[in-house]
Amino acid sequence: MPNQVDMTVNLAGMVMKNPVCVASGTYGFGREYGQFYDLSEIGGICAKGLTLHRREGNPAPRIAETPMGILNSVGLQNPGVDAFIEHELPYLRQFDVKVIANISGNTPEEYGIMCEKLAEAGVDMIEVNISCPNVKAGGLAYGTRPELAAEVTREAKAHAGPVPVMVKLSPNVTDITDIAKAVADAGADALSLINTLRGMRIDVNTNRPVLKMNTGGLSGPAVLPVAVRMVWEVAQAVNLPILGMGGVSKGEDAAQLMLAGATAVAVGTAMFADPFAPIAVRDGLADIAQRKGLTAVAQLTGAVQPW
Ligand code: FUM
Repeated sequence: MPNQVDMTVNLAGMVMKNPVCVASGTYGFGREYGQFYDLSEIGGICAKGLTLHRREGNPAPRIAETPMGILNSVGLQNPGVDAFIEHELPYLRQFDVKVIANISGNTPEEYGIMCEKLAEAGVDMIEVNISCPNVKAGGLAYGTRPELAAEVTREAKAHAGPVPVMVKLSPNVTDITDIAKAVADAGADALSLINTLRGMRIDVNTNRPVLKMNTGGLSGPAVLPVAVRMVWEVAQAVNLPILGMGGVSKGEDAAQLMLAGATAVAVGTAMFADPFAPIAVRDGLADIAQRKGLTAVAQLTGAVQPW
């Protein structure tokens, strides 16, 4: 029987043909995955995090496997916002997929400058990353302090014009709702969560940390229950649409995030093992919605019935 479920979702005015995005930092700018399938199959692409200027990232080793996940300390390697606009955005624009640019700045002003450039270039949404655990300036320094998170959000909004601004939150805080509320009050249009959890692995033969930067960010199936819990908490605390992510590898994982309150979901680490994971997640979500007798996948959002 053909699937009759309406898969469209509206994330802060950005209408996607299905709720499945790919998470920033796990998909580059799409070119490698474009060799496997038509990128138009996906709802949205959160591109690799951009900075104002090109960055080489952190020294290797910067990836380590863990039980049920990986640690990364990539350090925002990227070609810079101008190179993205000139070389990568035209490639992504060949496909019928929403393009979400992810940005990190050393100062609030840098976020503003990048928003202005990206809005002029016509991206569909800007994801303001205040949660990278692998850089000294910016990153977690903004994402763990409500007043700084709000300042970055205000600066981004002031320069993004009509392009919706989604702020990416860190799980490395005592209460994620404090940051969510500050960012919402500062004018964010949407929230994405969770970024990675800070972690560490040590080689017991050498007594050295496995990652050159000593610590990194944990992602993969191990973090899914943390992501579901945090999406649920944030959905109750603020009235903003949420892009939920963290450990999604199948339809049921995505459905959990949506039931907890997410409007859409992003697949990340799962794609390193299976490049087709976002398509499997989309189809799995459709099956779950159909089994439940829903006419639209959006009816999953916030439908959890807590005890
Ligand atoms: O190190 C990195 O490039 C990761 C970025 C992030 O987690 O936001």
